[in-house]
Amino acid sequence: MEKRRVAIVTGGASGIGYALCEKLVSQNVFVVITDINHELGRQVEEKLNKETINARYQHLDVTDAESVENVVKEVYQEFGRLDYLFNNAGIAMYGELYDTTLDDWKTIMNVNIWGVIHGTNAGYRVMKQQGFGHIVNTASAAGLGPSPVSAAYGTTKHAVVGLTTSLHYEAEEFGIKVSALCPTFVDTPIFEKAKAIQIDKDVIMKQFQKQKMMSPEKLAKLTIDGIHKNKVIICPMPMRRTMDVFFTLFPVAHRGLMRLVCRVSRNARLV
Ligand SMILES: NC(=O)c1ccc[n+]([C@@H]2O[C@H](COP(=O)([O-])OP(=O)(O)OC[C@H]3O[C@@H](n4cnc5c(N)ncnc54)[C@H](O)[C@@H]3O)[C@@H](O)[C@H]2O)c1
Repeated sequence: MEKRRVAIVTGGASGIGYALCEKLVSQNVFVVITDINHELGRQVEEKLNKETINARYQHLDVTDAESVENVVKEVYQEFGRLDYLFNNAGIAMYGELYDTTLDDWKTIMNVNIWGVIHGTNAGYRVMKQQGFGHIVNTASAAGLGPSPVSAAYGTTKHAVVGLTTSLHYEAEEFGIKVSALCPTFVDTPIFEKAKAIQIDKDVIMKQFQKQKMMSPEKLAKLTIDGIHKNKVIICPMPMRRTMDVFFTLFPVAHRGLMRLVCRVSRNARLV
């Protein structure tokens, strides 16, 4: 009988990570849910283990390289395999660049860039040893273009896209698949939790509420479909291709849209 597949999901206690854990379990994958939110993590573990044992929660702060490496190695030793590693944990931040301090930069870079590097570094080595596996790094559509008034967030997500798309080709030689997940607006608590630097959060939240949000469950389904196709970039944005073509043909329209985003966010600036 073939052994059960095993996945590690960082930031698995909430939003996209949680939906990915649920979807993986529905496909008979054993999931190691990792997060810094102990309480939510335990709740997710309980939900996923209602019928049979499908998952376990493990506290893990992705900014801690040693802990990430230990978790990856322990899972590999225990199960003898690591099929999927989702480096998904992330935080958001809004603010003008001149309001963003170096500490703000360090905070977001530690989670969104270093967290992904720590996971990728540890997971890639283990997968190279076993000769298979799929690493999925959650970036964002903000990693594919400008994100005015949240440049720090956009910077981290561009870095994740750069790392992931490069590794996609480097890793092929060793039988390892690597994909960048680039969602747009997904209905999760990330917007509410994000640090707003000198920005009126209520105004920003009202703007977000006008956006059509995708459910995390739908995103998880599209992500798993993308994984099965071994896509380099999984970008489940409706109309993505149409928009790409439109903005390539009419770059002025794209500039106009970015200026509008800038104006709207600037109107929310606290003076
Ligand atoms: N929601 C969206 O619209 C959207 C769009 C594009 C990209 N993303 C990305 O998707 C990922 C998941 O976000 P989400 O929307 O599900 O948000 P979320 O806030 O619901 O989930 C993020 C999870 O990451 C965990 N986390 C934060 N810092 C951590 C750390 N240092 N170590 C371990 N875990 C940590 C949080 O506790 C939380 O459970 C993020 O990387 C985010 O940037 C989200």
